[in-house]
Amino acid sequence: MGNIPFEIVQAFVLTLPAYAANPLAVITGGHAPMDFGRNFPDGRRILGKGKTWSGFIGGSLLASVAGIIIYISNLLLGSPMVPYGSGFASAFALVLVMGVSSLSGDAIGSFLKRRIGLESGANASLLDQLPFILFMLLIITVFFTQFSMAVYGNLVGLFTVILITPPMHRAVNIIGFRMRGKDVPW
Ligand code: CTP
Ligand code: MG
Repeated sequence: MGNIPFEIVQAFVLTLPAYAANPLAVITGGHAPMDFGRNFPDGRRILGKGKTWSGFIGGSLLASVAGIIIYISNLLLGSPMVPYGSGFASAFALVLVMGVSSLSGDAIGSFLKRRIGLESGANASLLDQLPFILFMLLIITVFFTQFSMAVYGNLVGLFTVILITPPMHRAVNIIGFRMRGKDVPW
């Protein structure tokens, strides 16, 4: 058993770019629907009006900026946390993939919401909160296995990011709602 409080804080801090990607996508979003307005064979939108390229690209890039700030802060502070990479380029690659996979998982959640007949913006606790974090964990584990094992490979880290996701998602959406960036508080 390692140092449990440290593993919790480390998993939380290093996963912040994945959480931040969603509210950051709200800021840049709203232009150019990712499904190009097209319908699925079931007659409903493939992803819906809530998933746009401007949100996907802007959210991913801003999330990686957040990741780079965490990377540099940890370096300057001499933090014992696992670094995102062995240098700036590999750290940037990891946090960019973290943002992209988080918003890809978010789009998968929307795809599933549309298939069960939920309108864009409808509240669907599990489909709003879990696909983005699970897909991010899958992709990071495939492409950055060493980092993933060090941060999430101990069950404390893994449970931390999964269990903290629903309250984080809720808190962030309430903030977005108050700031009027989002239409609804979920
Ligand atoms: N957004 C975007 N592009 C993305 C993700 C989000 O433009 N790839 C913007 C949209 O304006 C969206 C808002 O952020 O309405 C909130 O995101 P989210 O809650 O994920 O989307 P919903 O509108 O709730 O749609 P869905 O039901 O498909 O989740
Ligand atoms: Mg929503």
